[in-house]
This record gives sequence, C-alpha cells and structure tokens, in this order.
Amino acid sequence: MKVQRLMSRDDQERWDRQYAVAQAPGGPSHFLAEILSAEAWSIPPGRALDIACGMGRNALFLAARGFEVTALDISAVALAEARRRSLARSLAVSWQQADLEQIHLPRARYDLIVNCNYLQRSLIPQIHGALTIGGHVIFETYLIDQKEIGHPKNPEYLLAHNELLDLFRACRVLYYREGKFADDGESSFRAGILAQKVV
Ligand SMILES: C[S@@+](CC[C@H](N)C(=O)[O-])C[C@H]1O[C@@H](n2cnc3c(N)ncnc32)[C@H](O)[C@@H]1O
Repeated sequence: MKVQRLMSRDDQERWDRQYAVAQAPGGPSHFLAEILSAEAWSIPPGRALDIACGMGRNALFLAARGFEVTALDISAVALAEARRRSLARSLAVSWQQADLEQIHLPRARYDLIVNCNYLQRSLIPQIHGALTIGGHVIFETYLIDQKEIGHPKNPEYLLAHNELLDLFRACRVLYYREGKFADDGESSFRAGILAQKVV
C-alpha cells in the first residue's frame, strides 16, 4: 500500500511536469465523438464520468452535449487548465483530483463512463459497478502493437489483442475495433469498445 502511494505521487509529479509545458488538446477523442453522433446507438444525456480526464477535452465535449459530468485526474496542473476552459465556455463540470489507484467509485451511479488513453486494469470491476443498468462505457486506448512505432512502450499500459472484449465480457458489446488509426492526429495502434451494462 505504501509503495503504491509513493508510485502515485511520482505519477502525479510526472504528469504535472508534462502538463506544465503541454498545449491544450483540440477536440474530443474521435472515437468518442463518432459514437455519440452515430445513429446506430442512442446514448441520451445523463450522468457521466470521465476517467483520467487530463485537460478535459472529453469531459467538456460531454458537458456541451448536456451530460452532467464528473471528471477525475491525478494532475492538479491538468485540472486547473480544464477548469479554466470550462469556465471560459460556461460549461459546468465537477473536476476532481483523485488517484485512481486508490479510489472507490460509487456504485450504480453513472449512465456513461468514458476512459480514453488510460489503462488501469484493476479499475475495470469498479467501472462495471459504477454504471447504472443500461449504462454505457466507451473505452479506448493503445494496443500492444503501438510499442513498435512509438509510445507508450510499457506493456502494462498497452492492451493485448481482443483484451477489451475480455475485460468487458460481462457487458453487451455494441461496437469494437482495433488497428492503426489516424483519427486523433498521428497514426497509432488502438483498441476501442462501446459496451452496455445489462446485469
Ligand atoms: C494520456 S493522458 C489521457 C488524458 C485524457 N483522457 C485524454 O484522452 O485526453 C493520461 C492521464 O492519466 C492521468 N493519470 C495517470 N495516473 C493516474 C492516477 N493514478 N490517477 C488519476 N489519474 C492518473 C494523467 O494525469 C493523465 O492526465
């Protein structure tokens, strides 16, 4: 437990340093935006949780679409920028600094959970538990093939082929894709899933 706390504090400092020199991202995740605008699935506004929200591009997108958004991240620097952007756009988001390695998510609380470019496998049961019945999860991050062409390189942060299907096997899978995509700028190997909690 002590070791985990120290690791997370290191994580926070590392991410704070990166965000201190980072440019605010442009639009939301392409994968998220495509799913929410697709006619194939109707995901109505409700309570949403953005996991590891960074500077808030996805949380802001959801708030603009009428979701009541809670957004969590460990980096105070990223959250300060996210808060500034939400004030500038008069969008209400509950920005909360949290260490996801330590967190207990509330049960059956969210109609939509978004997790983009962050992989903490131990959080999956909590994500499932935090969804309402009928609630959706949109999860997208890097695939193992990514280490051959760029970052991340650590397999701990990379999904195996088909792994998301396995991690969300308790849900109804509505959409899944994996491969090399250029939709958020530079090409990267990614896997993404839209799944619905049914029980
Ligand atoms: C690659 S960024 C993704 C940001 C955002 N989801 C996006 O797609 O723009 C990963 C994020 O995870 C956050 N993070 C890393 N470890 C964390 C932890 N233990 N608890 C909470 N957030 C963490 C970082 O601060 C960073 O904002």
